[in-house]
Amino acid sequence: MNARAPFQMTPILYTNLTSKADTIIHQGGTSSGKTYSNLQYFLIRALEKPRQKITVAGQDIPNLKSGSISDLETILYDIHSKIDPALKKIFETRYNSTDKKHYLCNGTYIEFKSYDNWQDAKNGKRDYLFANELNGIDYKIFEQLHIRTSKQTIVDFNADGPFYAHEKLNGDGYQWCFSNYKDNPFVNPNIVKKILSRINDKAWFDVYGLGKTGQSAGVIFKNVTWLKEGAELPEGLKQISYGLDFGYVNDPTVLVKTGYYDGALYGKVLLYEHSLTNPEIAAKLAKMPLEVNARIYCDSAEPKSIKELNNETRKHSRYYKFVEAVKGTDSVRNGVNHLLELPMRLVYCDEWKSEQLNYKWSDKKTDRNGRKIPVDNYNHIWDSMRYARSSFIHKSKNKLLGFAKGG
Ligand SMILES: Nc1ncnc2c1ncn2[C@@H]1O[C@H](COP(=O)(O)OP(=O)(O)OP(=O)(O)O)[C@@H](O)[C@H]1O
Ligand SMILES: [Mg+2]
Repeated sequence: MNARAPFQMTPILYTNLTSKADTIIHQGGTSSGKTYSNLQYFLIRALEKPRQKITVAGQDIPNLKSGSISDLETILYDIHSKIDPALKKIFETRYNSTDKKHYLCNGTYIEFKSYDNWQDAKNGKRDYLFANELNGIDYKIFEQLHIRTSKQTIVDFNADGPFYAHEKLNGDGYQWCFSNYKDNPFVNPNIVKKILSRINDKAWFDVYGLGKTGQSAGVIFKNVTWLKEGAELPEGLKQISYGLDFGYVNDPTVLVKTGYYDGALYGKVLLYEHSLTNPEIAAKLAKMPLEVNARIYCDSAEPKSIKELNNETRKHSRYYKFVEAVKGTDSVRNGVNHLLELPMRLVYCDEWKSEQLNYKWSDKKTDRNGRKIPVDNYNHIWDSMRYARSSFIHKSKNKLLGFAKGG
């Protein structure tokens, strides 16, 4: 029985099936078919021999769940809905959701795992390793997994900037393969449209459109890991605060929700829209499940808008409050530095990714004390984050010192 039969070939699957390399590195743009084809490949390898172990490693479980775990389910569902009954049997899997292991009929399993540290990664050996979105996996962890893989390792990623793969995964036994959406015969036309709509955003398009390596020189926020698009913030999120940056026709109005959880700063964009009037902003927020008494820290340059938003919000019988964000000569630098203090875990959206790639330290100007300053561009979401966090901290400090003004 030929296990390749149910899969239509893609350049990535073809490369994997014909390669003799110990390690294949798939760098590519978004939707080039990397994850999907790699999983199909491992299903084929899984059936070649009984009782093999295949590990799919990812940054964390939520990312694996919304990414490769869900992709494998779709692939299996597809096989079962399309192929002839004789082949169906061999692709039947038993899934243990606690261990996140798919057992095939020959006793081989495909497990999905994330690792807290390199010690954790030292447990267990495997035949095949698939490191999905490698730049979300620490090098020390990858190294331990890679050493304990006997047959082959495959990795995939979008290269925001150069990272350890470019430096260390070279030489004998390593094969690099580059792909982008044009290499995926199955890509949804709406996704292609979305990708092409960002063609003028060079930093984004180079990485996610074309699959090139981004230029990370000067990028301010490198302390970011991305949660899947649409993901919820953690339930136990603490010190919640909101930031709002006003825009109108040329710039978007942005609202972010932020908070702390397990040693990291979390953020999610709740609103990113052009041409909104203040009553429209208030109406949109009134439909969101914001906490009663929440503070929404706004760009302090627009006190009139803040007042109007509070008036409008009362009409909707909602009890959160718009207040001015902390300001001052060094507020941008201080706010940026504050956001650099902790790892940030942010819910992915294309606009934010674009701001992350483009928001940079100036290589021409410094402040009057010779310190570096950011270029004032690609910072609508970052400004909202800054308002939310700096003001929250400022307020807590004032409270502790006993001169909180309220507001
Ligand atoms: N062999 C295939 N058969 C059917 N559909 C496929 C196949 N390969 C890819 N696709 C479709 O293309 C979509 C994008 O593929 P995939 O998620 O593998 O891209 P990717 O390169 O991993 O993207 P990203 O870099 O954003 O993670 C899949 O969700 C699936 O709908
Ligand atoms: Mg992928």
